[in-house]
Amino acid sequence: MASLAGKAALVTGGGSGIGRAASVALGRAGARLLLFGRNEPALRATAELVAATGAEVGIRAGDVTRSADVQACAVEALERLGSIDVLFNNAGIEGPVAPLVEYPEDEFERVVAVNVRGVFLGLRHVLPVMLRQRSGSIINAGSVASERGLPGTAAYNASKHAILGLTRTAAAEVAQHGVRVNAVLGGMIDTRMLRSLVSEMTGGDMEAGMALVAAVAPQGRVGSPEEVAEVVAFLASDAASFVNGVAWPVDGGALATMGNAS
Ligand SMILES: NC(=O)c1ccc[n+]([C@@H]2O[C@H](COP(=O)([O-])OP(=O)(O)OC[C@H]3O[C@@H](n4cnc5c(N)ncnc54)[C@H](O)[C@@H]3O)[C@@H](O)[C@H]2O)c1
Repeated sequence: MASLAGKAALVTGGGSGIGRAASVALGRAGARLLLFGRNEPALRATAELVAATGAEVGIRAGDVTRSADVQACAVEALERLGSIDVLFNNAGIEGPVAPLVEYPEDEFERVVAVNVRGVFLGLRHVLPVMLRQRSGSIINAGSVASERGLPGTAAYNASKHAILGLTRTAAAEVAQHGVRVNAVLGGMIDTRMLRSLVSEMTGGDMEAGMALVAAVAPQGRVGSPEEVAEVVAFLASDAASFVNGVAWPVDGGALATMGNAS
């Protein structure tokens, strides 16, 4: 396991799914944490799991689309933890499933606000701290949807493509200052978000839907949030000291085959 002993980490969307699993993995690797998200009781529940690893952990409720919330969170992290060595820019929403020609305009804006503006604001407010420190590692939550079109998910898909642009641009801007910026591309990962998408796409037939998404990966199953969390902890750590600007799939081989002629 990668070591994060002595490091301070900020996780957005830490109350559930991949953010919760990553918070626990970062804590277990030795990091001190501040968890940020919209849902305070959920953050509290994650904090209990993190504390059980022996890690120091705090929570802060807020919205990643609000610059003042994200800035205040970065200030609190610095005050409480003394540094920000790791940012997992993870908060995201899936939006509705609809053909592009019917996609509701307000929903498009809502998804882009959380998934793109939210990640931009994390970078915008945390990078100055890391640049002053001349060290840090940021991991942005991309997706296999960062690399492929997925019918019915125009806003989500566009937003996850944008994560690659933000990741690569940020990495190129800050690499010479000791800061790394990477993306982790989850495949079909068993969380509330995947189950909500599957339910919408199949009209509620979860058994058939989960079997369909499991078949997307050559490994023939969905992934767990913990499997993504392990890669996040590695990218966060100095073990990944020469890994920068990459989009790292955790997808059971899905991107190796998606879109190939069969
Ligand atoms: N589950 C998958 O299959 C999958 C695959 C690839 C990528 N991802 C990405 O992983 C990330 C986590 O998703 P998940 O699957 O754990 O789903 P999830 O719904 O369990 O987690 C999303 C978290 O983000 C928080 N959040 C949403 N909007 C917010 C806002 N405006 N401000 C602050 N927090 C907010 C939620 O409260 C929640 O805790 C997302 O960015 C998602 O797009 C998920």
